Amino acid sequence: MTEPSRRFSPVKAVLVAGAAAGVLGAAGAAAFVWFGVYDVSATGPHLQPVHSLLEIALQRAVQRRADAHPPPRDLLTRERVMQGAACFRDRCVVCHGAPGVAPQAFALGMQPVPSSLVEATRHWRPQDLYWITRNGIKMSGMPAWEYRLEEGELWSVVAFLDALPLMTPDQYRALTASRSGAAPVTVGPAGAADAAPRCDGVVDAPAPLVPPLPTVELAQRAFRQHGCTACHTIPGVVGPDTSNGPRLSGLAGRDRIGGKAFPTEDGLAAWIRDPQAIDAHTAMPTLGISETQARLMARYLLTH
Ligand code: HEC
Ligand code: HEC
Repeated sequence: MTEPSRRFSPVKAVLVAGAAAGVLGAAGAAAFVWFGVYDVSATGPHLQPVHSLLEIALQRAVQRRADAHPPPRDLLTRERVMQGAACFRDRCVVCHGAPGVAPQAFALGMQPVPSSLVEATRHWRPQDLYWITRNGIKMSGMPAWEYRLEEGELWSVVAFLDALPLMTPDQYRALTASRSGAAPVTVGPAGAADAAPRCDGVVDAPAPLVPPLPTVELAQRAFRQHGCTACHTIPGVVGPDTSNGPRLSGLAGRDRIGGKAFPTEDGLAAWIRDPQAIDAHTAMPTLGISETQARLMARYLLTH
């Protein structure tokens, strides 16, 4: 008789139980979110399992992507380390600190707190450090530097991070000594300030190996990376729901942009680069956008 087995199939029972557990799980997760159970304050740390899970996710995500950028063969030259030290002094030390230098007070209030990078090379390969520095880490407070440091400067920071574990506070100070920089000032002979290493462009960049993104994607990225989405809703660009500034759509059909500029690539790019030169009373800040980036964004806005 096959009758009983048709009425009770263990396989079907397992499937039904599995589906029920799935539905309950999803409902539980929805309730967890909806009732605001998770503490998002920066003073309340993540629960240990969440913290560990995030760390593993970060490690795997970086490793998976980083191999697209193998380090240049001459990564560890003295010039690179010196340039990297200057970039680190100008861009990173406020949050991460350095040998003998504490992070700024605000950084200690962040969650996750920016770690000391002295031992970063123990967990990360050079290409990982490059990837993290270039792309940042979502929802952690680690900024993306792709639009703020040149290709060569990014690799120099990596070279510096590689040299960091063996660096004494005195060596760090000597390497970054400058009269104007944010780093501690070493009082030296008059020429010392001029000799202080600079972050901008002294060492050649390796040729980029990754093919550039399509223009539309580059423009969408540019809007996010230059903070436009903090104030404007832009078609096709993910961002917060904001009305600080007007929605940027249908600009091509308009008489004037920002009340004054013409809706051409030239006019729009000029507005994006320096709105306050066009209208001294505008609430839109001048953000230090390069000509190339401004044109990229202007072309996007005129076609979306
Ligand atoms: C506004 C603060 C801030 C600045 C400025 C900053 N970072 Fe970070 N960074 C963070 C935070 C927050 C994290 C995530 C917590 C952590 O792992 O340290 C992080 C993580 C990292 C990590 C991964 C560390 C690890 O072991 O998980 C690296 C590498 C890094 N930053 C490099 C840099 C470099 C290089 C610069 C300068 C070009 C820089 N950061 C500037 C806040 C900052
Ligand atoms: C701090 C907020 C803020 C940021 C950041 C900002 N804008 Fe604006 N933007 C405004 C405001 C406010 C206006 C309206 C100004 C006015 O008419 O005087 C405006 C106007 C504009 C206009 C003209 C819109 C119209 O309808 O005439 C364009 C185009 C524009 N912004 C593009 C950008 C781009 C591109 C970026 C990023 C590079 C950017 N904005 C960043 C606040 C901002």
